[in-house]
Amino acid sequence: MAVRAQTPELQAMAAFVARSLALVSGAPAAKAADGVDAADTTAQLALDASLASAEHYHLQISPQQVRLSGGGVPGVFYALQTLLQLLPPDVALRGLPAQGACTLACASISDGPALGWRGMHLDCARHFFPRDFILRYIDLLALHKLNRFHWHLSDDQGWRFPSRRFPRLTEVGAWRERTVDGHTSNPGRSYREQPHGGYYSEDDIRAVVAYAAERQITVIPELDIPGHAAALLAAYPEYACGPRADGAPYQVEAHFGIFPDVLCPKEPTFAFLEQLLAEVVALFPGDYVHIGGDEVVKTAWAGCPHCQQLIREHGLGDENGLHGYFVARVAGILEKLGKKVLGWDEVMDGGVSGDTTIMCWNSNAGERALAAGYPVVMCPVDRVYFDFYQSTSLDEPAAIHGLTPLRAVYDYSPAALAAGATAGQLLGAQGNIWSEYLATPEAVCYTALPRLSALAESLWRGEGRQWADFCRRLPALTRRLRALGYTVADSHYKALLTPDTRRDGTLRVQLAGGVPGVRCRYTLDGAAPDAANASASGTASPTWLEIDRECVLRACGETPEGAPCGDERLHVVPHLALHRPVYYWRDEGLQQAPELALLTNGWRGNERIFHYHEWVVFDAERVDIVLDLERVRRVRRLRFNLEAGAHRQLARPAAVEVLASAADQKWQALARLDAAALDASGAVDIDLGHCALRYLRLRLHNSRRYYSPETRQRQRMPLYLDELVLT
Ligand code: ACM
Ligand code: ZN
Repeated sequence: MAVRAQTPELQAMAAFVARSLALVSGAPAAKAADGVDAADTTAQLALDASLASAEHYHLQISPQQVRLSGGGVPGVFYALQTLLQLLPPDVALRGLPAQGACTLACASISDGPALGWRGMHLDCARHFFPRDFILRYIDLLALHKLNRFHWHLSDDQGWRFPSRRFPRLTEVGAWRERTVDGHTSNPGRSYREQPHGGYYSEDDIRAVVAYAAERQITVIPELDIPGHAAALLAAYPEYACGPRADGAPYQVEAHFGIFPDVLCPKEPTFAFLEQLLAEVVALFPGDYVHIGGDEVVKTAWAGCPHCQQLIREHGLGDENGLHGYFVARVAGILEKLGKKVLGWDEVMDGGVSGDTTIMCWNSNAGERALAAGYPVVMCPVDRVYFDFYQSTSLDEPAAIHGLTPLRAVYDYSPAALAAGATAGQLLGAQGNIWSEYLATPEAVCYTALPRLSALAESLWRGEGRQWADFCRRLPALTRRLRALGYTVADSHYKALLTPDTRRDGTLRVQLAGGVPGVRCRYTLDGAAPDAANASASGTASPTWLEIDRECVLRACGETPEGAPCGDERLHVVPHLALHRPVYYWRDEGLQQAPELALLTNGWRGNERIFHYHEWVVFDAERVDIVLDLERVRRVRRLRFNLEAGAHRQLARPAAVEVLASAADQKWQALARLDAAALDASGAVDIDLGHCALRYLRLRLHNSRRYYSPETRQRQRMPLYLDELVLT
């Protein structure tokens, strides 16, 4: 197919379009529907000033001509992406099938994005991903008409930006000796004992920037300062306030979390940053540089005479003001270099200047930043952090924590925030992928897809989108992505068991897939649901299962190809204490604690994935709670659990005491478990004889200390507790 550009600005895009079309139509000449030879068809590229923005496009397919018009060059590029999406899913990779032509229907499509900033982030510090994968990741963004790639290039676990002036940043900072295996907060830590690391060369960066630019994507580099600086300080400890508090040398971190290693706001640090940022700016032509600014632990500043002197001298008030001072100094450097500054929302707390663009990840940060007048990019942690679990199914690979199913992403509407903001203040949104638990490109793709697709549709289509319509197109999109070589999760086709424990003491469980129309199979006896004796649900609407006895439900869903998928489990327990109130025991009395209602809601969390909303978490030396049966009853057995689900190990209390009383709250000891008994199993099962009681009291002694890699001290760890099952 001949490609013609109508204006000189479109010459480069014409070459790109010609290459893209050659990839898919290179083989035998395609025939258009009416017999016109594809070789005779032309693709015309044009600019059309009547379109609403540079990113809007009009795609016209007729027998003789494919016309790609854009308000600007990006619009023409998006017209091409739509054209490619109209081809059968596997054509884009393999070219046309040998046996013949593929036919495109005549069409006229006008379209444009709802939001201007449509981005994806990738953390290449926690794990390093080679240049080839970065290019494939950019292809993925381009396919979804995203236009910003936020490249997280430094963190405690590795420095990835090449500096000529400061070579130790990569010689030392790019490598760690080992990496924690399993969840970083597990008390019994183990390690992958191989060095991990790498960094991008200047050539890599130029190649990535050029490749992205060709696809209308701006690359935004992030060097995270002044916190998340362990790798930097391992290379140049002179930019810290002083030696590490524990006396060890600064090291590239082998663990994940938030560490106290922080840059000291002294003149040599700013001189270093000025030279380093000049190197960054030389390689990244985009208008923004991201300077991080999140999760700054300020204890080193609190103990540093220079920092304290600065706070007094500049009237900064405290270390938060010093954070603001730090960010303002760095922003000044970047502004002199002609760049705009982006920072995570914590930079607002130090009163950073109104020109700074705030990337909002914490809850309510978007509202606060907009009210304060900042330009805003949204990436709320509970909606678009794609390192969270995609389903509650036990076969999900380990993730950091949290749960963000596909639907939650699709339903996220950043534009809803903009109502009260000044026009143009809300730039858009992006998804973030932190790679603590993503060691390979395949793992990144699994966690990204198809959540990235859902976000892209929200950002592009805005309020016009429809979940059912997206789900209908999902199988074809998945086939296309897989044909292009990407790993795509099936999590949304897994079964989801959602308990509903009613006030009258009856229990029911909703069974449904993560998208409409998934056929689910289930068992009520703990057997694998692909067994012959599994029952199947319908697909038209969710199925409700009435439960009248303790059971372990297991369920799986089904992919569009008919393969069973998922291992969803739910242990439901009707019991005597269902919905009975649980209080804290304080000052010899009961203290209201609505958050403890999770302990008597009729289902156990320990057979689920690690998801922090499902457990009651106690971060205290002593936990003293009382369950009130509201009348005297005879009880035989108490069970509870100190586990937090798959992929997570927990610390155990040093002892647990169980006490009981009648209505008079005169306590009588029933049982005491020591550390050895608790270590042997996190599942506690106590025979209470045939005891009459109204109140049951649990005292957990959390006096054990574990080494915390984040504080680098031995400290108490939180206790997790689930269902108090009384029978
Ligand atoms: C962040 O997630 N710490 C920005
Ligand atoms: Zn200092």
